[in-house]
Amino acid sequence: MIWNLGSINADNFYFVSHLPGAGETIAALEFRQGLGGKGANMSVAAARAGTRVMHIGALGADGGWALERLLEYGVETAHITLMEGVTGHANIAIDAEGENNIVLFPGTNHQITEEMIGAALSEASSGDWLLMQNETNGQVLAAQTAKTLGLRLAYAAAPFRADAVKAIISQIDLLVLNEVEAAQLRAATGRELRQLPVDDIVVTLGAGGCEWVSNKTHQIKTYSAYKVDPVDTTGAGDTFTGYLVAGLDRGMTMPQAIDLALRAGALMVTRHGTADVIPDLKEIRDHRFGG
Ligand code: RIB
Ligand code: NA
Repeated sequence: MIWNLGSINADNFYFVSHLPGAGETIAALEFRQGLGGKGANMSVAAARAGTRVMHIGALGADGGWALERLLEYGVETAHITLMEGVTGHANIAIDAEGENNIVLFPGTNHQITEEMIGAALSEASSGDWLLMQNETNGQVLAAQTAKTLGLRLAYAAAPFRADAVKAIISQIDLLVLNEVEAAQLRAATGRELRQLPVDDIVVTLGAGGCEWVSNKTHQIKTYSAYKVDPVDTTGAGDTFTGYLVAGLDRGMTMPQAIDLALRAGALMVTRHGTADVIPDLKEIRDHRFGG
């Protein structure tokens, strides 16, 4: 089972001819709203991958719809607290090439209490996974608690903050980074990924696939991506991570879980939207990827 301490956002998508520059006002060609947040996207991906996932998070009084939608997608929600404050949201501009920029308001994602984390993890069992990203507060306490309880810790260092990852690095079992975050981590620690005290590090490389740094076996392996025509990369990395941890939770080997995660991430790039459009196992199995 996966316990995911994670953000939940309302994603507001604005489709634009080009991304606005400083001081520029442009009218969007189309507008859509959906469920998102790196945390929620990973929870939905893990649930779609067929594993049990309990989301630990917070919503404002305006966020009841998000809780219902997570439930509908198969995510367990008993540890999502509705509280005073504004639900997190992201304003995402997407241009004709599928490039995006995002303005994020964390809102209640930064109002998670120690009590909420403690109450949730007190129900976890040794061998479960704790999954986290960097869009909520509470990672340090959650990591410590998880290690005391014998949980495995997976962390996606997104959005990247050097102090956040450094504070928990010796507790992480599986670290997931994109290329930019990997470079930032090297710069912040002055070390190569193979010198870090983390058993498994997976670096996503977009159309280049991904790289698995195994610090237990001292091997680095690369996996190529499934080829697709990109439409919108938003949420693809989150989908990859959710599927990766779910695969491992279901007993897959790392190469098996990586292959499944690459397929899920590739399909996600062909779709507009985030949590609402994450593919399930059947869609992935039925999809025939081009060479
Ligand atoms: O990674 C994509 C996510 O980042 C979006 O769903 C948005 O909410 C932002 O948090
Ligand atoms: Na997408």
